Amino acid sequence: MAQPWSPDSWRQQPVRQVPDYPDAEALAEAEQQLAIFPPLVFAGEARDLMKSLGRVAEGKAFLLQGGDCAESFAEFRANNIRDTFKVLLQMAVVLTFGAACPVVKVGRLAGQFAKPRSAPTETQGGQTLPSYRGDIVNGIEFTPEARRPDPQRLIRAYNQSAATLNLIRAFAQGGFADLHKVHRWNLDFVSGSPQGERYRELADRLDEALAFMEACGLTGESSPQIRETSFYTSHEALLLWYEEALTRRDSLTGDWYDCSAHMLWIGDRTRQLDGAHVEFMRGVKNPIGMKVGPSTTPDELIRLIDALNPDEIPGRLTLISRMGADEVEKRLPALVRAVKREGRAVVWACDPMHGNTVTSPTGFKTRAVNRILAEVRGFFGVHAAEGTHAGGVHFEMTGQDVTECIGGAQAITDETLKDRYHTHCDPRLNASQALELAFTIAGELKRARGAERRLAVAAGE
Ligand code: PEP
Ligand code: CO
Repeated sequence: MAQPWSPDSWRQQPVRQVPDYPDAEALAEAEQQLAIFPPLVFAGEARDLMKSLGRVAEGKAFLLQGGDCAESFAEFRANNIRDTFKVLLQMAVVLTFGAACPVVKVGRLAGQFAKPRSAPTETQGGQTLPSYRGDIVNGIEFTPEARRPDPQRLIRAYNQSAATLNLIRAFAQGGFADLHKVHRWNLDFVSGSPQGERYRELADRLDEALAFMEACGLTGESSPQIRETSFYTSHEALLLWYEEALTRRDSLTGDWYDCSAHMLWIGDRTRQLDGAHVEFMRGVKNPIGMKVGPSTTPDELIRLIDALNPDEIPGRLTLISRMGADEVEKRLPALVRAVKREGRAVVWACDPMHGNTVTSPTGFKTRAVNRILAEVRGFFGVHAAEGTHAGGVHFEMTGQDVTECIGGAQAITDETLKDRYHTHCDPRLNASQALELAFTIAGELKRARGAERRLAVAAGE
């Protein structure tokens, strides 16, 4: 029998990857403030996302989850939010139209601030300070003042998330996401690139399809799906004080929802069965994700699924595999098989970023686009071989013209990484590289869906 759960029962369990706040009273004050602030999302929205993810688990839709590695206070600008949203819309159109598959869109934004780190401290020039853990915790500058965890940052992160989400909601529903505007989502610096041109060709075909539909009487007025889109938010539920303060009881069902985002996930470093993060997440009713890295064993995975989705609700749990391009074909099959054997309904998604991080000879933390694409192909290959669904992707990108990942059509090299390397944490795909990823996924998805259809026909379904 599981122990009773409450929004603060995680406090009884060992907790990893959170800061030591020097001023406990200041932390408690910030928590109390947050606890009376309005929720950022509503339980009904989280339930809608859960239903959509249930369709992903059945192989009838695809999850596109992406955005920043770490949002920052410094990069908080309307144009940055708009451009990230544009690229996610472009990627979704490439998948929906290119692979004829409904796409569930989930941003890593409006709350993606807290970061796990490989070491609790950092030493530079003989000085040792706490590691930077994301703007919601401390500052990135290497000074004792900046690195001191400051609970007022929780409030600032909340406010920034609220404003970000407000803009995203307006974009999603206010006409910006209208499929007739598909050409306008192409960012200037991408439009001249091969990816931009490929996108333009697809957008031309989509325009023709829309004109045909309009001639048949299907317009933006009659079909809101053409005019607006559903877009959800997500982040890693790492800083549990923040998550607890935004956890509210839904008045309709009496269930607890973490109203800081529609979907939350557990990172690869905090998924211990008896740890605080698993304890917290098992009790909230949102759809949740869990990163599954190379150290995960099949047995451990099944026990985690038991803890996190005991009622076996489809769409509740997304397993986000992040093995690395060289490991995915070796390590993923045993896990996929175990889940299939136990008959668990999960969404399998691929994070092709976090297992492919390297340091460039010029000293930058980077990732090669071809390794990222290779992991995606490997992931699809494993699911094709196991007879399971490759359900989604999870990636780090930005709408800005950054040079953080190597390769891609723009051919960013070790030498050019320094030109526009802005990330506060991990290297992100820029808009053109993100489009390249979308075209690769669309190709894989089209093939996978074609093969599934042929099997279904052969089986007389
Ligand atoms: C992340 O998604 O930013 C992250 C830290 O991933 P992981 O937990 O898989 O290392
Ligand atoms: Co990251």
